[in-house]
Amino acid sequence: MRTNSMPRITVSLTLQVCLCASLVGLAACGKGKEAQKEPAKEPAKEAQKEAQKEAQKEAKMVQEPAKEAAKDQVEVFSWWTGAGEQEGLDAMIADFKAKNPTIEFINAAVSGGAGTNAKAILANRLQAGNPPDSYQRHAGLELADDIKAGKVEDLTKLFEAQGWKDKLPKGLLDAITIDGKIYSVPVNIHRANLIWFVPKTLKALGIAGPPKTWKEFLTQAQAIKAKGKTALAIGPTWTQKHLLETVLLGELGPDKYTGLWTGKTDWKSAEVTAALDTFNKVLAASDIKSSAADWQPAADRVIDGAAVYTVMGDWLDGYLGRAKKLTFKTDYDVAASPGSSGVYDFLSDSFTLPIGAKHRAAAEKWLTECGSVQGQDLFNPQKGSIPARTDADKAKYQNYLATALKDWQDPATKIVGSLTHGVVANNAFGSEIDTALGIFVQKRDPAAFGAAIAKAYADTK
Ligand code: GAL
Repeated sequence: MRTNSMPRITVSLTLQVCLCASLVGLAACGKGKEAQKEPAKEPAKEAQKEAQKEAQKEAKMVQEPAKEAAKDQVEVFSWWTGAGEQEGLDAMIADFKAKNPTIEFINAAVSGGAGTNAKAILANRLQAGNPPDSYQRHAGLELADDIKAGKVEDLTKLFEAQGWKDKLPKGLLDAITIDGKIYSVPVNIHRANLIWFVPKTLKALGIAGPPKTWKEFLTQAQAIKAKGKTALAIGPTWTQKHLLETVLLGELGPDKYTGLWTGKTDWKSAEVTAALDTFNKVLAASDIKSSAADWQPAADRVIDGAAVYTVMGDWLDGYLGRAKKLTFKTDYDVAASPGSSGVYDFLSDSFTLPIGAKHRAAAEKWLTECGSVQGQDLFNPQKGSIPARTDADKAKYQNYLATALKDWQDPATKIVGSLTHGVVANNAFGSEIDTALGIFVQKRDPAAFGAAIAKAYADTK
């Protein structure tokens, strides 16, 4: 039994003994007058014996769930249930099962893009001391919150045993390390700053190519509107936040964008207000009033030709290229989001070993799968991401993914971290931005939006 689950067990055992003692007491009372007639039986001692017996029974019951917990299984928590996401996870699960035939795999995935639903459910489980055996967390400040709160185990020994330390880019290793200890196993690298389109749609509208700046996007948007189409398909709040980060990146450039998360760029400055104003105009050119339920249906509008563009991370390549079996370059195409060519707005999905996991050894086996070349090379081509490991099999990454791999490894590429997907903002700051964004979408006041975020940054630092 893990030491960190001890206090919980001890508490419940103590509670149970007390409860038993009082129940025995009640039972003794229930005997009522009879008990009063037989004072010679030393009721106090009898009750004590009964309480001891009950306590022994209860202690056995407490051990039994522990035996149950020792059964060979592993519960893995993620949000990869949707088309394009599930396929990747399934590929890795199949390999895990083949390598670990005696471990029952429990897929505890909760639906909803970017984990908006999953994260809320996970928070409740962690709060209740009922963690899954491993859960998905983005590398970066999102994970750092869990580390600081003592929710996840130090995995340094596993990294050393598996020889992973020199198989990951240093920047990524830094995003999962605190005080020299490593806390999660990254399975991939995703790129957030991408704009997706259908070449035939652009051709039919007389548009030469995807916009290189947001200003150009807004010009195109007018012509698109005149032809009765929507310039940009969008989904729920998190996709709007995803759009916000790409507009900020495109308008401010990588250094000032990074400064937004380090305190160097003032959210109330004229240039940030101007960028937020552009965001406002971009939103106005979108279908926000009738926005799609999630990122896949937003992309469907582009594929159907009702909308021209959607801004989304490269999990869209998994959805369009694998789940929908469309052909890259013919049926769909992609470019860096306006103003962000040469920049990789990255995020990384990683898996943890929560403190109190019931199947620790099996969880380590799952993490071993996640960190392996084979696991990553099965998962990522399906998922639309490139491997976190630097020694994966390049031949497995074709079409869009071949360019992603090349760009990621190009020393000239500037790398920045994603806001929406956990790299640059801690959870408190992230959720304050959600609130401010909700108000902005209603009121459309860029200066007030910037001021609200500036305050949130100061409050949550
Ligand atoms: C991100 C996650 C991606 C993908 C996306 C859409 O947060 O890192 O792997 O799942 O959400 O659901």
